[in-house]
Amino acid sequence: MIVFCGSVSKNLSEKVSRRLNADIGLIEHRLFPDGEHYMRILSEVKGEDCVVIQSTNSNDAFMELLLLLDALRDFNAQTIHTFMPYMGYSRQDRRFKEREAFSAKTVLELINQFSDSITTINCHFLDSEGVFDFEGVDIRNIDAGPLVADYFKEKTEDLILISPDRGAFEYVRRAAKAVNCEFDYLEKTRISDDKVRFTVKEVDVSGRDVVILDDMISTGGTILEAARFIRAQKAKSVSAGCVHGVFSRGLQIFGGVLDELACTDSISQQVSRISVSGLISEVVSNIL
Ligand code: R5P
Repeated sequence: MIVFCGSVSKNLSEKVSRRLNADIGLIEHRLFPDGEHYMRILSEVKGEDCVVIQSTNSNDAFMELLLLLDALRDFNAQTIHTFMPYMGYSRQDRRFKEREAFSAKTVLELINQFSDSITTINCHFLDSEGVFDFEGVDIRNIDAGPLVADYFKEKTEDLILISPDRGAFEYVRRAAKAVNCEFDYLEKTRISDDKVRFTVKEVDVSGRDVVILDDMISTGGTILEAARFIRAQKAKSVSAGCVHGVFSRGLQIFGGVLDELACTDSISQQVSRISVSGLISEVVSNIL
């Protein structure tokens, strides 16, 4: 077995290969002056089972992954198992308006052409673990929510997890169950791409350590507004945890609003304090 990775998931892939005692596949990847990608596989892959790890949090990351997968197939890898810990475009998981592109379907159909299996972590349009048929493509989803909850549980006896919307509720409910703590959710209304408003909360957070847990933080609009809402109700501390730290507006915007911010290494960030390498390694061991 050989573990390959794109540039986004280097650290994570190294951890996975160490856990599995597997070789890291060698590639040559660079950009041409006009921004196009050059990809060459240096390791012999004929007849090998290949694990490819790359989060697709940018168009470049996605292109890199496609070139790598197609080259592996051209050079006769025995099997190709694709891991997109964070799958980009997963929020366009249907046509919300007439004649819109169905981006999640497009991405998965492309990846599926070159993959014997596809695995994601806390995929935005799924809310539990298992193998699901999404528009004719099988996708395995694993849940890192309990790992994030566990990280915060280690720090306080009085943890309460809050889902910032109904969408993340199932993930948060399971994470709370895993670490045996209380949970609740907020009602979120999205006003624009980066602005939301909150209402309703039944559990009393006053004097307690609150962690707002979401599958992903993108612009941060959701977490910032949720944190202000919870803080106004006299919580002792307000932190935020997520599986995928996209942080498209950087980390500075969270300063002064959150007591702590932590995410996993599905996307490598300064606040990646939790590793999903164990979860990925377990799936690889079960597949191969
Ligand atoms: C809801 O759509 C999701 O669970 C997240 O809350 C959302 O994607 C986070 O986006 P942002 O950080 O841009 O508010």
